[in-house]
Amino acid sequence: MARHTDVAFRALCKEQGADVMVTEFVQSEGLLRENAKSWEMVDFTESQRPMGVQIFGATPASMAKAAREVCNRVKPDFLDLNFGCPAHKVIEQNAGSGLLRCTPLLFEVVKAVRDAIPETPLTAKMRLGWDDESIVAVDVAGRLQELGVEAIAVHGRTRAQGYSGAAHWGWITKVSEAVDIPVIGNGDIRDGETAVERLRSSGVSGLMIGRAALAQPWIFRHVRAALEGREAPPAAGAQERWDTLVRLAELTLETHASRLGERDIRWMLAKLHPLTQGIPSSRQVRDQLQKCLTLDDLRKLRDKHLSSYVAP
Ligand SMILES: Cc1cc2nc3c(=O)[nH]c(=O)nc-3n(C[C@H](O)[C@H](O)[C@H](O)COP(=O)(O)O)c2cc1C
Repeated sequence: MARHTDVAFRALCKEQGADVMVTEFVQSEGLLRENAKSWEMVDFTESQRPMGVQIFGATPASMAKAAREVCNRVKPDFLDLNFGCPAHKVIEQNAGSGLLRCTPLLFEVVKAVRDAIPETPLTAKMRLGWDDESIVAVDVAGRLQELGVEAIAVHGRTRAQGYSGAAHWGWITKVSEAVDIPVIGNGDIRDGETAVERLRSSGVSGLMIGRAALAQPWIFRHVRAALEGREAPPAAGAQERWDTLVRLAELTLETHASRLGERDIRWMLAKLHPLTQGIPSSRQVRDQLQKCLTLDDLRKLRDKHLSSYVAP
């Protein structure tokens, strides 16, 4: 997920049992311009495999070239194409979910990329369609299969929905019934119980978890226990939430230390915000977080809060 699931954040998810992970979406043109930030987004560690790199764009030749460069340089386990992003600055270039209203171009992109990286598994992530009047997921999935895409993740919302309303799992089920390749269902999975229910009722081959992981990376542990029919692990308490928040800050600094060469953490505070959910007095915590300049300030804030929760 853009601006969140970098190599540091993914380390937390892997520890908690995430099976397969994908980088945030990276613009093909940025990669081709040798933009350092774009290449940093593509980064992953060997222990994070199986890893996919997700790219976006609407120019078949640039997408093909970027895909080839990524596969040559970082050798991901698969390359993923983004046909889901609803952000204005992405769709105005016809990229992301913008391609769902222009499917001939979408298929050209897929063809070009498929030909460019014959050795690397190719996957796609898409929404249901542009809006309720133009749901194209079933038809697009069938064509993607013909073009050699090897798995498809479907977020059960249209572009017009943004992140509002509920994900339509009925459509996800229809996509999974229409193709032979694995379909990964995505949308609104926030706990183990829902994961089990969605997997059972939709017939998808796998589940993708997005926003819930930002606030509770341990969701992977909970979902795994539920899928294996084990008792739910204890809910994360304040200590685990705080420790995870501080650990993410440490990992993020380690990851980017060479670039920054200093201990300032202000630039990463937005990444830490979701992890304050569920911490007692979270609003106050978020205000105080804004005042942290260094890792040391953050650790002190954690210790102060944790000691205040202990009954006198
Ligand atoms: C902040 C944010 C960034 C996202 N970035 C990406 C992205 O880069 N690539 C992608 O395929 N989906 C991205 N998504 C969409 C999620 O992967 C997912 O499809 C969506 O949030 C629905 O799943 P969920 O209910 O589990 O969150 C992003 C979502 C959010 C909220």
